Amino acid sequence: MATAHTRTASKTAKGRSGRKRRTSRRDPLAVKLLKQDHRQVEEWFDEYEQLESDREKLELFNKIALALKVHTRIEEEIFYPEERGDVEEDMLDEAYVEHDGAKKAIAEIEAMEPGDEFYDAKVKVLGEYIKHHVKEEEQPGGIFAQAKKGDEDLDAMGERLKARKEELMAEMGGGKAN
Ligand SMILES: [Fe+2]
Ligand SMILES: [Fe+2]
Repeated sequence: MATAHTRTASKTAKGRSGRKRRTSRRDPLAVKLLKQDHRQVEEWFDEYEQLESDREKLELFNKIALALKVHTRIEEEIFYPEERGDVEEDMLDEAYVEHDGAKKAIAEIEAMEPGDEFYDAKVKVLGEYIKHHVKEEEQPGGIFAQAKKGDEDLDAMGERLKARKEELMAEMGGGKAN
């Protein structure tokens, strides 16, 4: 039972597919980088739906999988633990559990091949799952909002997230593609 839009469209030039520009200019670096990752995978999940060839699907899914693995790692190694104390415990606990769910789904898809029954459906469901998780992080009062109100220096943390991301991309992306 959605309440009527109280604030009418002033400058609502949102993205076509309902993707909102949630990246605020004022975001500290850590939040900005994590949101950039979110926008990137969202875009790739949308793109996946347009694909027809199995080869392209596999290629794009591999990109999505790597991005998600690296992103969840940097959040789990740096962002989440350092936000303990600033962000509600329950919310962080749920985020870890959701990451685990995503990892399992990724592993399942990796064990399959495009063209297999349910492959596309699994990718689609993973995308929806990720969008839900991203919302928990980005929504008002969510993890990022609470983090921004907290004591951590999120610009300095951003530098570390960035460095660790580069390391992991090289480590996980280079070499062992399967
Ligand atoms: Fe995230
Ligand atoms: Fe996350």
